[in-house]
Amino acid sequence: MACFEITSDIAVPDNPLEQVVGQEHVLEIAHIVARQKRHMLLVGPPGTGKSFIAKTIALLLPKPTQQIAVLLNPENQDRPILEVKNADELERERRDKMRAKLVDPRDVPYYVSERLGFRCRKCGTISDPESNICLYCGAEKYRRSRNIEEMFSDMPKISRDDKVFMKRTSQDGKEEEFIYERVGNKVKVSKNTHKNTWEVQRKVIVPLERNTFVQATGASEAELLGDVGHDPYGGHQEIGIPQHERVIPGAIHEAHEGILFIDELSTLGELQRYLLTAMQEKKFPIMGRNSTSTGAAVRVDNVPCDFTLVGAVNINDIHSILPPLRSRIIGAGYEVLLNTVMEDNEANRQKMIQFIAQEIRKDGKIPHATAAACDVILAEAKVRARQMDKRDGLTLRLRDLSGIIKMAGDMAIVENSQFIEKEHMLRAIKRARSIEEQLLDKYGSVWRAGMSDYAAISPEKDRGYASEVR
Ligand SMILES: Nc1ncnc2c1ncn2[C@@H]1O[C@H](COP(=O)(O)OP(=O)(O)OP(=O)(O)O)[C@@H](O)[C@H]1O
Ligand SMILES: [Mg+2]
Repeated sequence: MACFEITSDIAVPDNPLEQVVGQEHVLEIAHIVARQKRHMLLVGPPGTGKSFIAKTIALLLPKPTQQIAVLLNPENQDRPILEVKNADELERERRDKMRAKLVDPRDVPYYVSERLGFRCRKCGTISDPESNICLYCGAEKYRRSRNIEEMFSDMPKISRDDKVFMKRTSQDGKEEEFIYERVGNKVKVSKNTHKNTWEVQRKVIVPLERNTFVQATGASEAELLGDVGHDPYGGHQEIGIPQHERVIPGAIHEAHEGILFIDELSTLGELQRYLLTAMQEKKFPIMGRNSTSTGAAVRVDNVPCDFTLVGAVNINDIHSILPPLRSRIIGAGYEVLLNTVMEDNEANRQKMIQFIAQEIRKDGKIPHATAAACDVILAEAKVRARQMDKRDGLTLRLRDLSGIIKMAGDMAIVENSQFIEKEHMLRAIKRARSIEEQLLDKYGSVWRAGMSDYAAISPEKDRGYASEVR
């Protein structure tokens, strides 16, 4: 059937969405989920692409637009102030900072141009800052050192400043500090933002530039909901770490405007309740979660957590999901069952070959496969569909097939083969069988295998042990 010789001839789409095989109905919903910000529960057996699909949904989302920060609250340090800024505001701030103006030394205050070495202190004329004598009146331009010893030495040190700080009152009455720096024949003027108390005392907990895919599988309470770190010095002004610096966002906050992916959702247990609240409120407080820590007194309310939940469960665990959480997902989203088998037709065989090429490229350490080697995988996909799902078609339990391809690739490497050949695939299939299957092969049944294990340690050894004890 093959119209290619080596998998390197197969085009692999760059778009991860097009790399998903045999789950078209899930992808259709994935697009809606991303666009409409719905929640999604992916139900299916291991290795059918639940995690893979969840990651692709994140790629469909627009870039985050908000940055979340906490600021020191001078009135009550245990209640840091929440600050949510959008991209436009941040961009404006950044530009303000960057917009340091280069101006003529004539346009800065007298005092500044004098200190920077432009203006003569005696006659006020501006001249080249490199020359320490005024070209107009011949006076010394630079300030003499105030150091008493140097004042009496033969070579008094004269100095000009490279940088001058000066406070000015702006039109709206706010006092701001400016920095004036000498740059060649010009003066660079910028706002001294480090003097701005808010600027120094801010901790960005969810930056604007962030990943829209956050995985919280098996997360602890603190990892999921956030925490406030311990400080042995209790936030002491000089030696301690201020409270707002110790605020740690949870996965629910980091996933703000993105995907919160939780594999095996049911293992979250009681934490599902908090998740439900977070989904309903779209904000959740961050507080110290360890009552013995100094962080326990600290709390930031209303921290945004407007995430899209993508949960994954195996079919057997679906009943361990908290009913209200499940109904929340159904009420504002979708539950989707993943396919385990796809029809065996030409189009799907092509997709399967694309999958083989994809896995080889993704692995990066194994050679490409021949068409005959791919045929072995296709045949195995058929066998597995029948064995595992009692259906005709091609299996979509693709992680297992991916394992076989990689194992065959390793064999090809060890044997210095240029490609993965049919023989490599066949051997890998044989070796990749589970322990149960291997036992079945060797002993006829898993039970009998177990008994043989028992027999191996049994009579004599048992007796020996017993006699020793006696
Ligand atoms: N439908 C698919 N299309 C393409 N590749 C797939 C597909 N399903 C699985 N794979 C491949 O198998 C790998 C494992 O899949 P993934 O981790 O998404 O499975 P899963 O359903 O999340 O399994 P688990 O339940 O064990 O977490 C993927 O990284 C991908 O390489
Ligand atoms: Mg997974």
